[in-house]
This record gives sequence, C-alpha cells and structure tokens, in this order.
Amino acid sequence: MIRSENLRGGYIQDDVEEYLYKLLPERDVVMGEMEAYAEMNRVPIIGPAVARLLALLVQVSGAKRIFEMGSAIGYSTIWLARAAGPKGKIFYTDGDPANAHRAQVYFRMAGVAKRIEVKIGNALELVKKAPGKFDMIFNDVDKHQYPEALRAALPKLRRGGLFITDNTIWSGKAARPAADDDKNTKGVQEFNRLVYASKELYPVLIPLRDGVTICRKL
Ligand SMILES: C[S@@+](CC[C@H](N)C(=O)[O-])C[C@H]1O[C@@H](n2cnc3c(N)ncnc32)[C@H](O)[C@@H]1O
Repeated sequence: MIRSENLRGGYIQDDVEEYLYKLLPERDVVMGEMEAYAEMNRVPIIGPAVARLLALLVQVSGAKRIFEMGSAIGYSTIWLARAAGPKGKIFYTDGDPANAHRAQVYFRMAGVAKRIEVKIGNALELVKKAPGKFDMIFNDVDKHQYPEALRAALPKLRRGGLFITDNTIWSGKAARPAADDDKNTKGVQEFNRLVYASKELYPVLIPLRDGVTICRKL
C-alpha cells in the first residue's frame, strides 16, 4: 500500500486516495525515514500530499518567516524549511521535549537545522511572544484548541500572509453533529465557522487528506 494507514483521510474513497498517493514522487532518505517512523509509532504527520501543498504555498507566496504551531518530529517543518530556502526562518514548536529532540536530529540530517528555531512549550503562548510578524503560520495543534490558536496567531500574521490549518474535515466528523463530549470535533467545527465568518480572512477549505484550510489575511 502506498498511502499508509496513518495518512488515511477517512472520508475519501480508498482507491481514489491510493491513486493520489501513487502519483507522488518518492521522497529522499530523511523524509522516507520520518514517514516510516511516523507510521510505526502512530505519529500524526501531514504526509507527503499535504506537505507538497504547504511547500507550493511557500514557493508561490515567497514566505520566509514561518511559524509552525504543533510540529511533532519536524516532518512538516522540514518541508517548510526546504521550500523557504536558505533565507527562510522557521519556528518549530511542540509541547513534548522528546519530539523536539528527535526533530533536531532530523533537521541536521536534512541540512536545514540553521533555518529552524526550536521552541518547546505551548504554541499558543509561544506565537504571542515570538518577535515580529510572520508571512505564514501553520497550525497543527490539538484540535480542541483550534479556535484559541486562531485568536493567538492572527495578530502575529502580516497582512497578505497565510494562515494554514490541517485536519479541518477531521475524518468527515466536522460535517456531522458532534457528540457532547467530542471536544476535538467541536473545536474544528467552531474553527471552520470562525474563519468563514471573519472579515479579516479569505479562507478556502481544500478536501485533501484530512482537510486543509488556507486563509489569506486581508
Ligand atoms: C499533528 S502533530 C503535528 C505534526 C506535524 N505538524 C507534522 O505534520 O509533521 C501535533 C503535535 O502538536 C503538539 N501540540 C498539540 N497542542 C500543542 C500546543 N498547544 N502547543 C505545543 N504543541 C502542541 C503535540 O505534541 C503533537 O506533537
């Protein structure tokens, strides 16, 4: 199987999703190793299909200062850093020091360590404290925090900048009534409502893998 189980969108027909992943070019050794580690250890990475979208958005927008909220082992961070090039500055954040430690090993292997500043702690607090504004903010924290993540990040995004959020279809659950105790689905649903109601943002939800929402700050 080309598309591993941890990258299953959960709402797209299996054969269609497999087809999409079969089209993707092979990744290099480092990314291949990270994908295998994520699959074996159930680390929820964005995977290569969404990673290519992120990289494309960095390239077409020319984003250099990028803040990532929820970076885990640094898979998406490396895609962002490579797309931004040697002048890029990427802020990695994660609450788990073990993730950060592993990520730093991969950053060195991928040759992008100098472009990445590693911050351990709550990404919602770290983004508020970070110096200056950002060209792009990528949000992939715990889903119940999405509305708060949006409120924390938006003042730190420059006008014209991109706020990108993963998992906005949430295996299809975003489209269905949430159980009372399902705070993650409720967080995603509230986030989707907020961005489409915002006068500050121009959002598009792309049903790629688990859903990716791209917002331009007006
Ligand atoms: C979905 S994973 C990130 C995957 C990563 N973006 C990638 O695609 O390679 C979410 C990560 O965010 C971290 N996390 C969740 N909420 C957080 C928060 N408020 N602050 C910092 N890290 C957080 C978790 O520890 C977890 O490693």
